[in-house]
Amino acid sequence: MTPDRLVLPQFVLDGKDRCEPIDAMPGRNRMSIDRTINECEQAMSLGVRSFALFAAIDPSLKTPDAREALNSENLTCRAVRAIKDAFPECCLITDIALDPYSSLGHDGLVEGGVVLNDETVDILAPMAVVQAEAGSDIVAPSDMMDGRVGGMRAALDADGFTHVSILSYTAKYASAFYGPFREALDSAPVDTPDVPRDKKTYQMDPANAREALLEAELDIEEGADILMIKPALPYLDIVSMLRAETTLPIAAYHVSGEYAMIKAAAERGWLDENACMSEALTSIARAGADVIFTYAALDYARLWRDGLP
Ligand code: PBG
Repeated sequence: MTPDRLVLPQFVLDGKDRCEPIDAMPGRNRMSIDRTINECEQAMSLGVRSFALFAAIDPSLKTPDAREALNSENLTCRAVRAIKDAFPECCLITDIALDPYSSLGHDGLVEGGVVLNDETVDILAPMAVVQAEAGSDIVAPSDMMDGRVGGMRAALDADGFTHVSILSYTAKYASAFYGPFREALDSAPVDTPDVPRDKKTYQMDPANAREALLEAELDIEEGADILMIKPALPYLDIVSMLRAETTLPIAAYHVSGEYAMIKAAAERGWLDENACMSEALTSIARAGADVIFTYAALDYARLWRDGLP
C-alpha cells in the first residue's frame, strides 16, 4: 500500500512558530501555519501529498451560531491559501462541520436542546464556498446532517466551483474513539442544560450496519465524489459493504483513538508499533478503502521508504 493513498490530518493553530503536543496523540501536534507548511514539505518528500486540515479556533472566536465558520479570513481559509501558495500540487481537504467554531461543541446549530438539521445545512453550504474560494481542493462534510451534500454541491456549482470535489463522511458512527481529537480541538459538546451531551442524534448507531447503505444511497444521489467510513478498524465490515455497493472511491478514517491505542501500548512495550501500525493500515486497504486518513501517515511513509516490518 503506497503512501500516496494516505491523507495526513493536521491541526492548525493561530500565531507563528507554535507547536503544541497533543497529549493523547503522541507524535502529533497542533501547529501554526508556518510549521504546518514545514510538515507538508516533509510529507511530500515521503510521498504523502494529501492533507486534511482542522483548525483549532481561538476560544474567543467561538459563538453559539459558529459565525466564524463563514469568515473568509478565518484560520482555515488562511491556512489553505498559505499551503496552496507554497505547494500548489498538494491536495487539501477541508472539514465542513460547525464544532470547531461553535461554543457549544456541536457540529450543527443547537436550539431548545435539539441540533437543527436544515438550518445547519444553510450554513454548511456557504461554508463550503468560502473554503473553495480560499483554494480547497476537496470539501469534506463530517457533520452528518441530512441533505448537506446536495446543499453544498448546489452552492459550489452556483458559484463556479464545479471542480471542487465533495468527500462525504457517509457513515460516521457516534464513536467513543474520537476522544483525542476532541481534546486536540477542544471541541467536545459542552456540559450545559439544553445542549445535547453527545452526538447520537446525528452520528450513527454503532449497532446499525444497514443504515450505512441508506446514507450511501443518499450521498451518491446528492453528488458526493468520495464516500468515507469512520472510524476504520471497528467498522471494516462497513468499508467492505460500501466498497461492493458503489464504483465511487471509498475512504476510511483511522481515527485518533485507533492511533492512540497502538501508540500507548507500544510506549508500554506491549506491542510492536511499526508492525501493528502497518498491519492496521494494510487491513483497512484490504477491506476496500482506496484512501485512508491516518495520523500515522508520516510514520508509515518512513517505513515504506526504509522497508516495511
Ligand atoms: C467533528 C469531527 C470529529 C472527528 C473528525 N471531525 C469528532 C467528532 O465527531 O466529535 C474525529 C476524528 C478523529 O477522532 O480522529 N466534525
